[in-house]
Amino acid sequence: MNNKNESLSSCARRVPTSGTMRMAVLAKELEVKGKKIIHLGIGEPNFHTPKKIIEAAYQAMNDGKTGYTTSRGILPLREKIAEVHMKDTAVDINPKENVILTPGAKASLFAAIVSILDPSDNMVVVSPYWPSYEGIAQFIGATTKSVQAHYDDFGFPSETIKEAIDKNTKILLINSPSNPTGVIYDLESLKFISDISTDNDLYIITDEIYKKIVFEGKYHQYLSVSKSLERTLVIDGFSKSHAMTGWRIGYTIGNKEIISAMNKIQQNVSTCVNTPTQYAALKAIELEEPTRKMVQEYKQRRDKAIELIEQCDNFSCRKPDGAFYLFIKYDADIESEDLVLKILQEAGVAVTAGSVFSVDEKYFRLSLASEMEDILEGLRRIDDLITKIK
Ligand SMILES: Cc1ncc(COP(=O)(O)O)c(C=O)c1O
Repeated sequence: MNNKNESLSSCARRVPTSGTMRMAVLAKELEVKGKKIIHLGIGEPNFHTPKKIIEAAYQAMNDGKTGYTTSRGILPLREKIAEVHMKDTAVDINPKENVILTPGAKASLFAAIVSILDPSDNMVVVSPYWPSYEGIAQFIGATTKSVQAHYDDFGFPSETIKEAIDKNTKILLINSPSNPTGVIYDLESLKFISDISTDNDLYIITDEIYKKIVFEGKYHQYLSVSKSLERTLVIDGFSKSHAMTGWRIGYTIGNKEIISAMNKIQQNVSTCVNTPTQYAALKAIELEEPTRKMVQEYKQRRDKAIELIEQCDNFSCRKPDGAFYLFIKYDADIESEDLVLKILQEAGVAVTAGSVFSVDEKYFRLSLASEMEDILEGLRRIDDLITKIK
């Protein structure tokens, strides 16, 4: 027990540090030393939570709604979530059995994956993918099998996905619109996924946290295609759609046995989502205008940034259809982790390495959740730096 690390459980040792958080800490250290940093690293809307939502939380607190709620969350919000999704998908959703509120979509993902996977199981994901999926599987001791998306358009790899599925595969996890690529799966891909789910008895976890941030084309919810909650778990929340990252509220809609298992986990971990936040979300779910305005702003930033990228020799980027990131391919002989460190230290810009999203090729992710001038200035500085090191 002399070695500090050995005193930790194997589970604690397995859990990785978040790649995006590591960069944020480094950026903070430089700022403390007086360096000015342009933050294009983390996925946090640079908008305030709409006032009506804040007022709803305040009202709830003044009304004495400050105690625990039931662990699945307040029924009026679960009813509203069920109503909205039934309208969109024409699938019957029982708010008492098929819905649970959790402290963020991340907590939903955690409880869902922990409810399904044993250490001998595996989960299939499409790379590039958000790193927490793998972090959660590692916590359990289960395996993540990654299948590369089409690198021309980041489309769903229908031809290769089946090769990754074996008798220990329990979950296929999809994320559309995707963080980091912004790709949105078309109807054909979703039908294909639904067929694989039936043929292989797989749960489909569909992370739809960015579904309200869509710039082009029609967004199809997976549930509107699978038409059943038997093997479907929809993960969503209010962090991105209503600029509520710090409030910590997300939810899962799904198979009632899995929801019930998630509820047991929640009872032992956090009890419930903090109560004023639940009332704030009850207001948020009826507000569409603030999201519409944010999407409009992200779209303008995306278009201007893509215009600039097209003028730079060192970059290329597929125009994202949704979410608020640019996944930029760069042309220089340096690994993405080393590049982003150099960008931070020498150009004063924080971005995220492609390797964080399990990509070997030369990419970095830039968040559009920052002011336009910062995005454009950040891109110019990175372009200059790459020209220097090439
Ligand atoms: C793809 C994806 N899923 C889930 C989450 C978690 O969101 P929440 O703040 O609701 O936990 C994020 C946050 O960055 C994300 O990018």
